[in-house]
Amino acid sequence: MKEKLILDVDTGIDDAIGILLAVKSNAFDILGITTVNGNVSLDQATKNTCKILDLVKADYIPVIKGASTPLLRKPFFEHRIHGEDGLGGALKSEAITHPVSDGFAPDFLINSILSFSGEVTLVFTGPLTNLALAVKKCPQITNHVKEVIFMGGVVKGSGNVTPTAEFNTYVDPEAAKIVLHAGFPSITQVGLDVTRKALLTKNHLDLITDKILADYIATSTNDYQQKYFNRYGVHACAMHDPLAVGIALNKGIVETEKYFVDIETRSELCDGQLVCDFQNRLNKKANLYVSLKVDDQAFFQMFIDILNGHFLGKGVTS
Ligand code: RIB
Ligand code: CA
Repeated sequence: MKEKLILDVDTGIDDAIGILLAVKSNAFDILGITTVNGNVSLDQATKNTCKILDLVKADYIPVIKGASTPLLRKPFFEHRIHGEDGLGGALKSEAITHPVSDGFAPDFLINSILSFSGEVTLVFTGPLTNLALAVKKCPQITNHVKEVIFMGGVVKGSGNVTPTAEFNTYVDPEAAKIVLHAGFPSITQVGLDVTRKALLTKNHLDLITDKILADYIATSTNDYQQKYFNRYGVHACAMHDPLAVGIALNKGIVETEKYFVDIETRSELCDGQLVCDFQNRLNKKANLYVSLKVDDQAFFQMFIDILNGHFLGKGVTS
């Protein structure tokens, strides 16, 4: 039986590719995709999610809207990276046919987790607002989730919004704090420390034989790759969110270690910074599996196998 999955996204360019991987892997029973404000507004993230599901004809996957703002702060959109539409201008003229389900994402999370106790994997690739709201409303869900994997934070390198903060934890640090201290027994952080090594290049795109998917990914990442070239001199772009989905498919592509991790929420300079207690200075119980190394070659082999329809299945590398 396929593993049950809920994806929570702020569909931007990399979230969209993460959705493609999850669907095309055919490895999950995707109970639903919940949306949140982040890269773009909640409405735009929801529209983009529906467009991606239309692209792969996944009309059977419910889309449920969540929080339109962070818990306490104002939204902080990232149009500079993701474009005005959030998909780098791809699928601009496409009409949307995928419906948006009734309900509110935190309630959908609670109901799904309690209905399938111990079976649901949560993959979060945007700010953690919806999960924080679900935990506040129903704290016991932490005992019924199979595992949580979230793309967010950075523990050794520099941030990508401020010198210390990564975008998802910067947008809603209060939500991240609630999630970090909720008591999830198995929660894995996929931060910039590893996602920056998951760089999609033209060579990867040339290996994708599904023309529709190859053309979509090339179009949506074109500006993203150019921005990366302008900063680093290489035409590439980091597959932040797809790596989080990849880890849900095969935990072996990263090396993790469990530490006590907290997040800054009251600092002029460092709000949103994940603070990892590598030396156990605070003598607190480890609460987070931190991803420290990634086998980027294994990830991209799986990435291409999935998009070409050759994926052998969860936990299996070709
Ligand atoms: O820092 C990268 C993360 O922020 C990704 O999830 C990207 O989509 C943005 O949400
Ligand atoms: Ca995202």
